[in-house]
Amino acid sequence: MLNPKKTNIIRNIISILKAGVFSLLRLISRNMIIPPFRVILLRLTGIKIGKLVMINMDTRFLDDFIPGLIQIDDGVAVAPNVTFVACSYPNRSFIGNLYDLEKRGKIHVKEGAWIGTGAVINPGITIGKGAVIGSNAVVTKNVEDFSIMVGVPARKIGDVRKKPKRNLSGI
Ligand SMILES: CC(C)(COP(=O)(O)OP(=O)(O)OC[C@H]1O[C@@H](n2cnc3c(N)ncnc32)[C@H](O)[C@@H]1OP(=O)(O)O)[C@@H](O)C(=O)NCCC(=O)NCCS
Repeated sequence: MLNPKKTNIIRNIISILKAGVFSLLRLISRNMIIPPFRVILLRLTGIKIGKLVMINMDTRFLDDFIPGLIQIDDGVAVAPNVTFVACSYPNRSFIGNLYDLEKRGKIHVKEGAWIGTGAVINPGITIGKGAVIGSNAVVTKNVEDFSIMVGVPARKIGDVRKKPKRNLSGI
């Protein structure tokens, strides 16, 4: 029977090894040129991803590898270089002792939403079904279904349902 101190050391070693392997899988996924393999690698590291999801290259998921802390539903499209910040803290900076900056909250992107390149999604945010997030937006509040959001902080500029329908007759 191991004493509690040894058990703790073993637990710490296992969690360091797990973080190392998961970091490597995420690194490979960011550079993986075959989209379905990218999704498989991300799922292996704890991100919940539905069917027919497109996640482009160079996208980052900050979730401390907590399973399900980031959930992406069916049919979502994520452009390159998007950052999902589900966990946020200033690491070892003294600032962390001055006031409580630590934030951790589930990010949920609902069915069919589209996130433009360079967008940043803050902790605890839900992005509604069919919503559009413009390039380089910083999303700091929940986004309603079908809203079109742009800017820093992201603000609503329209509704997908009110946009003219796509004319496919000439294609
Ligand atoms: C948000 C977006 C969908 C809006 O497209 P749209 O409905 O055609 O809107 P418009 O281009 O007519 O722009 C409407 C207004 O929003 C502004 N706007 C558009 N995109 C913006 C953005 N990313 N950031 C800030 N403002 C933006 C425009 O300047 C315009 O402002 P104005 O009314 O004061 O002139 C589009 O601009 C966008 O960012 N798409 C994402 C592109 C992308 O990342 N693709 C990834 C490829 S995988």
